[in-house]
Amino acid sequence: MEVIICQDSGKASELAAKLLKNQVKKRKHSVLGLATGSTPLTMYKMFIDFVKAEGIVTSEMIAFNLDEYVGVGKDHEGSYAYYMKKNFMEPLDLDPRQLNIPDGMAEDVKKECENYEKRIRQQGPIDLQILGLGQDGHIGFNEPGSSLGSRTRIKSLTEETRDVNRAAFSSLEEVPRHVITMGIQTIMESQKIALMAFGKSKAATVAKMVEGPVSALVPASVLQFHPQVKVFLDEEAASELKNQDYYKQVFAHKPAWQMEEFV
Ligand code: F6R
Repeated sequence: MEVIICQDSGKASELAAKLLKNQVKKRKHSVLGLATGSTPLTMYKMFIDFVKAEGIVTSEMIAFNLDEYVGVGKDHEGSYAYYMKKNFMEPLDLDPRQLNIPDGMAEDVKKECENYEKRIRQQGPIDLQILGLGQDGHIGFNEPGSSLGSRTRIKSLTEETRDVNRAAFSSLEEVPRHVITMGIQTIMESQKIALMAFGKSKAATVAKMVEGPVSALVPASVLQFHPQVKVFLDEEAASELKNQDYYKQVFAHKPAWQMEEFV
């Protein structure tokens, strides 16, 4: 894992946004894997600004989102389809067909999961997967105990995750219990992965993910097995890492050619 510690979340978002825009600039048919939640919001805004400023073509790229709530329609403000429409699709003027998001209202959820997996296989591999990090160590909505070999399927949220995600719903009772999420194996088949985590509340989980043993109890720790993972952190999220100084030195002294993806 390449751990990139920035002075604040703004700088970390900027570097991640540059990585994403360079991916699309280099390959206009890029297949992106996208996350929702509060962490990538600034990064998406910056990505959109870079795309507009540099005239980067986005009409050929496609994206697959990690997850969606079961039983929540795409017009509900808490749905991830709504989030993507407002924060990504509309500002970039994308064709809705460019964005793949699991259908939380599908009558046959099992079939929807199988079809989603099939679509990723047909149109993938995902060139660059963006991830956030759950406080309990989830990636996508692969909660602790998820199979490290899992594929897109229905999962039950932990009470902790439901509570953290309640802001988009009118009450805790309204937060769905079930989600459709890409599996851990599905995520691991992406060519490159960029995970972002900000703030003190993520520090202990970041330390377990980067420096702890690989365990299904901390699903994000499986990323230690992936050869192309970048972890973008602010100082607070990095504060419990033992090797902080080393990660900072590595980034400060990267060869110039390795910095091209951050220009
Ligand atoms: C969202 C997702 C989740 C979030 C995670 C962190 O699509 O897959 O894994 O990335 O719950 O959420 P925030 O960024 O809100 O802290």
